[in-house]
Amino acid sequence: MRPSYLLPWIFFCALWTLANSEEQRIPQEKLLVVTVATKETDGFRRFLRSAKHFNYSVKVLGRGQKWKGGDYMSAPGGGQKVRLLKEALQNMKTEEQILLFIDSYDVVFASGPKELLKKFQQAKHKVVFSSESLIWPDRHLEDKHPHVREGNRFLGSGGFIGYLPNIKEMVANWTGADNNSDQLFFTKIYTDPDKRKFFNITLDSKCRLFQNLHGALDEVVLKFENGRVRARNVMHDTLPAIIHGNGPTKLQINYLGNYIPNVWTFETGCTVCDKDLCSLAALKESEYPLVLIGIFIQQPTPFVTVFFERLLKLQYPKNRLKLFIYNKEPHHERQVNTFLKEHGSLYQDVKSVNPDEGMEDAESRNQAFDMCRKDKDCDYFFSIDVEVVLKNENTLKILVEQNLPVVAPMITRVGRLWSNFWGALSADGYYARSEDYVDIVQGRRLGVWNVPYVSSVYLVKASLLRSELSDYELFTLHGLDPDMAYCHNIREKEIFMYVTNMQPFGRILSTENYQTSHLHNDLWQIFENPLDWQERYIHENYSLIMKDKLTENPCPDVYWFPVFSDVACNHLVEEMENFGKWSGGGNVDTRIQGGYENVPTIDIHMNQINFEKEWQKFLVEFVAPITEKMYPGYYTKCSNPLNFVVRYKPNEQPLLTPHHDASTFTVNIALNSKDVDYQGGGCRFLRYNCSINAPRKGWALMHPGRLTHYHEGLPTTAGTRYIAVSFVDP
Ligand SMILES: *[C@@H]1O[C@H](CO)[C@@H](O)[C@H](O)[C@H]1NC(C)=O
Ligand SMILES: *[C@@H]1O[C@H](CO)[C@@H](O)[C@H](O)[C@H]1NC(C)=O
Ligand SMILES: *[C@@H]1O[C@H](CO)[C@@H](O)[C@H](O)[C@H]1NC(C)=O
Ligand SMILES: *[C@@H]1O[C@H](CO)[C@@H](O)[C@H](O)[C@H]1NC(C)=O
Ligand SMILES: *[C@@H]1O[C@H](CO)[C@@H](O)[C@H](O)[C@H]1NC(C)=O
Ligand SMILES: *[C@@H]1O[C@H](CO)[C@@H](O)[C@H](O)[C@H]1NC(C)=O
Repeated sequence: MRPSYLLPWIFFCALWTLANSEEQRIPQEKLLVVTVATKETDGFRRFLRSAKHFNYSVKVLGRGQKWKGGDYMSAPGGGQKVRLLKEALQNMKTEEQILLFIDSYDVVFASGPKELLKKFQQAKHKVVFSSESLIWPDRHLEDKHPHVREGNRFLGSGGFIGYLPNIKEMVANWTGADNNSDQLFFTKIYTDPDKRKFFNITLDSKCRLFQNLHGALDEVVLKFENGRVRARNVMHDTLPAIIHGNGPTKLQINYLGNYIPNVWTFETGCTVCDKDLCSLAALKESEYPLVLIGIFIQQPTPFVTVFFERLLKLQYPKNRLKLFIYNKEPHHERQVNTFLKEHGSLYQDVKSVNPDEGMEDAESRNQAFDMCRKDKDCDYFFSIDVEVVLKNENTLKILVEQNLPVVAPMITRVGRLWSNFWGALSADGYYARSEDYVDIVQGRRLGVWNVPYVSSVYLVKASLLRSELSDYELFTLHGLDPDMAYCHNIREKEIFMYVTNMQPFGRILSTENYQTSHLHNDLWQIFENPLDWQERYIHENYSLIMKDKLTENPCPDVYWFPVFSDVACNHLVEEMENFGKWSGGGNVDTRIQGGYENVPTIDIHMNQINFEKEWQKFLVEFVAPITEKMYPGYYTKCSNPLNFVVRYKPNEQPLLTPHHDASTFTVNIALNSKDVDYQGGGCRFLRYNCSINAPRKGWALMHPGRLTHYHEGLPTTAGTRYIAVSFVDP
């Protein structure tokens, strides 16, 4: 049997060895961390997470009580913290304890108890207060502060560490009101030489233990090292163990808290992003949180039809969704109404605000949020502006699962650094670029980031709208844009806003240069929103052509490939019919140079609908690469082509007699379907006795113009056939 007294002996032995090698360490069990938190704010949760990471055991005072200590902004306050500490210590006996008293809403631990205690011991005092470079709240006490050899001279009461009996006695005399200043109370003790000596107090002037950020923003940088992150004070060359965003530095602690202590590191990426998720996987669809989606149309915007198509495809049970659609633009009434008529009944409820109601932007948002606030079933409000292109169909689920107060999916403007979040704020509350902004936007750092501003698309917890954000006019604030007013109000409540770039979510459209003078205005967006234009108008298999050599070769030197989507064909035909000024088909044609057309057709030129530039861009982007591949050595800029849409009808113009095109090469795109829209049709190349009898909608025929490819348009025997033609390099 092993004698039981051996164990304590070994323990003693270990201590003895330690004591001999260096000064005896205070064991970690002796450390007690005490904080006051009357509310479970986002910042408090962040504090606890960092404490847990280092295995600090934290005692929280004041939970659930009403905060009467003031807001620190208008006047000094915080006395309630001293009262609560005093009360707690009165019942505490353990004399040998070391107590760390620390704020929590704006604090993160950057290091563990061992280092903290070691540094405390090295300070060689019984009580160590955090230090500040700015004196507060009473400037008149400046002279009473002892000089320090190096570092900060003034006391900060947001963090201190010391032997429990000393602290107990120090706060025993507190009789102040809850809204009196705790900092002034401790400052008066510290600046009294007798008391300072009696309690054996010193300041952590060089920020070895505590880093207060106020007045020290230039001194603090992130330091990444071996899978953990710290803040480094470059002025004093120290690595503070605790970081405190005191005073007006809440956004800076939010920024640092995105990394410290190990939230995001180069080695691991984000370590918390998939923690605390509230998974929807186990839920029946009927149990999904109810989301009110607010859709805001504030200006003429391209691709609104596509927006609603995507809304329909959003992966979320529709009977757990309600819609609020605000439309300020008469131009978009047709699209909204069509969507509501065809699909509105799928949703649990729909409300829409039409242009003629004359409601302002801010008011529409206030009202939409209020709908969710007052609807007891509403669990989340999902706000989305119509210019947002949400490519990720799972966006809403992903955001709900994040279980965060306010969270936005990151969207960017293609090819730019623009995004729907700000990494930092300028002094006057506008955009400022954080050091990590570009890395986040460009996806080199993936995570869920605490940021001071989000816009365009985000999810908000309804419970917040009924508590901290119960103010109806969230979007209204002395002349600020609604989005800025909103973010300002959220920041004021110290609610955290996040943006996630853990997945790709989508992008945002440019609404500049969007004209509303045509029937299908989106056709004109090839310059402003090229990616969206391509997705809408280019054939889904176009990109495979080059890769998989899908171009067909029906006749010698004639190439056939898919280029237009169905929608592109329809829009172009409808646009032309809407314009309606078809040429008469005679030889005299004032629209072209020389005024004489050899082989006249019933047609409308692209320049007649102001589509010349856009069409040329289309040729350069989508046809020229194929030309260069199929006719090696020939390069084209597609400049000055003659572009038009031809209409064939049995009793108008059914066919085109054999001819050469006035082009180096010709592109001929079928805009509708044989046997559906017309009978007959096609094209025959006489030299090779080779016909294309079954044109395919959206496919382009490309062939040399002059000399070799003498050809004819075969008769359309019923219906109406449309083709788009370009004579390139005439
Ligand atoms: C915290 O405690 C756990 C077990 O209780 C341990 O695995 C972990 O290493 C500790 N972490 C630190 C930073 O000491
Ligand atoms: C506490 O109050 C007593 C009585 O007023 C006074 O004698 C003592 O100096 C005070 N102690 C401190 C630390 O202020
Ligand atoms: C502190 O609270 C009291 C009431 O408890 C009030 O009369 C006083 O004006 C407050 N002081 C400050 C500075 O807010
Ligand atoms: C504070 O206490 C330490 C021992 O813990 C002592 O060496 C030092 O002289 C004391 N300082 C003051 C100012 O009393
Ligand atoms: C694209 O190609 C796939 C596979 O060959 C085919 O199934 C699909 O119908 C094509 N899409 C269109 C619009 O023709
Ligand atoms: C042209 O082709 C058609 C069918 O492919 C054939 O019937 C006809 O005889 C050919 N004409 C000539 C001149 O080769």
